Amino acid sequence: MGETQPYSGRPSELVGRQIAGYRIEREIGRGGMAVVYQAKDLRLERTVALKLLAPELARNDTFRRRFTHESRVAAAIDHPHIVPVFEAGETDGVLYIAMRYVAGSDLRHLLDREGPLSLAVATRIAVQVASALDAAHDHGLVHRDVKPGNILVAQGTDSDHPEHVYLTDFGLTKKSLSLTGFTSVGQFVGTLDYVAPEQISGKPVDGRCDVYSLACVVHETLAGRPPFQRDDDMALLWAHQYDQPPSLTERRPDLPAAVGEVLSKALAKTPDDRYDSCLDFVGALRIAGTTGTLAAGHVRPRPSPSASTSPDVPEPPDWAGPVFTRP
Ligand SMILES: Nc1ncnc2c1ncn2[C@@H]1O[C@H](COP(=O)(O)OP(=O)(O)OP(=O)(O)O)[C@@H](O)[C@H]1O
Ligand SMILES: [Mg+2]
Repeated sequence: MGETQPYSGRPSELVGRQIAGYRIEREIGRGGMAVVYQAKDLRLERTVALKLLAPELARNDTFRRRFTHESRVAAAIDHPHIVPVFEAGETDGVLYIAMRYVAGSDLRHLLDREGPLSLAVATRIAVQVASALDAAHDHGLVHRDVKPGNILVAQGTDSDHPEHVYLTDFGLTKKSLSLTGFTSVGQFVGTLDYVAPEQISGKPVDGRCDVYSLACVVHETLAGRPPFQRDDDMALLWAHQYDQPPSLTERRPDLPAAVGEVLSKALAKTPDDRYDSCLDFVGALRIAGTTGTLAAGHVRPRPSPSASTSPDVPEPPDWAGPVFTRP
């Protein structure tokens, strides 16, 4: 990037600078394609999170289109668990998006700091993410990049709601740029820990790919690591497509077996074998966690072709408890 450009990628350069009516105060974090700053909106005197496209990517038309797309998609959905977008634009060759600043932590940092969470906390977080995802699906939008780094956890309103969770990076489908997340400019843009089998094989995706990714996140939240970990990317992609997910309750023996069954169904290789919606999944998770039983109508996923057959377990009795309703 030339010397006239305001941003050459070194974080300290921008702190104190003004970009499009925002004064940059500090760097919050950086991901595969952008840097996020805490900034002050000088017109309204409020703190915002300002996301700036990485300079080396700003020249890439595909990235520019995705960045614009992300802001439009996110701004179109008004939901208590989706980060509100205030403004998006371009100034001096820098693409930016201003959104609500969420004080707190993202789930990635929370897990790195705290390790596995209790079932109650994990379920509370998952329910909020699920409601955001189902709302987006109702708008015909699939997130495709559900992962702990895109889940922001803020303080909640009261002891009944100790945390308020926001989903971010809506519509930013970086993995669709290529099979493994390597972009046309050869950069790796994200983790493969949460990617659904049908995303890998290039089949059409719908909201059930977010069910799979959310299940990977819930598994990690409870077990301390994602369901599949392999030495290299190709092995990891293979595992998502063909390997039986590890038993959650082997990793967390304190949890009811029914919780593990719910996770297995949500992690089914074939979308038809998963829950139809994210709230169906977390509703079943909540029932399994509180009663130790499976919701009525729970059907086990078909084992994947290469998965080892599990020993026969008798079907649990149907349970006609309260039906989980959308918040
Ligand atoms: N609205 C926000 N308020 C506060 N912090 C935020 C906000 N949005 C993002 N962040 C922080 O900035 C970090 C970087 O975000 P970014 O989306 O660039 O990267 P990522 O999600 O980790 O990776 P990826 O580029 O693959 O999405 C996030 O992990 C989060 O901690
Ligand atoms: Mg992100």
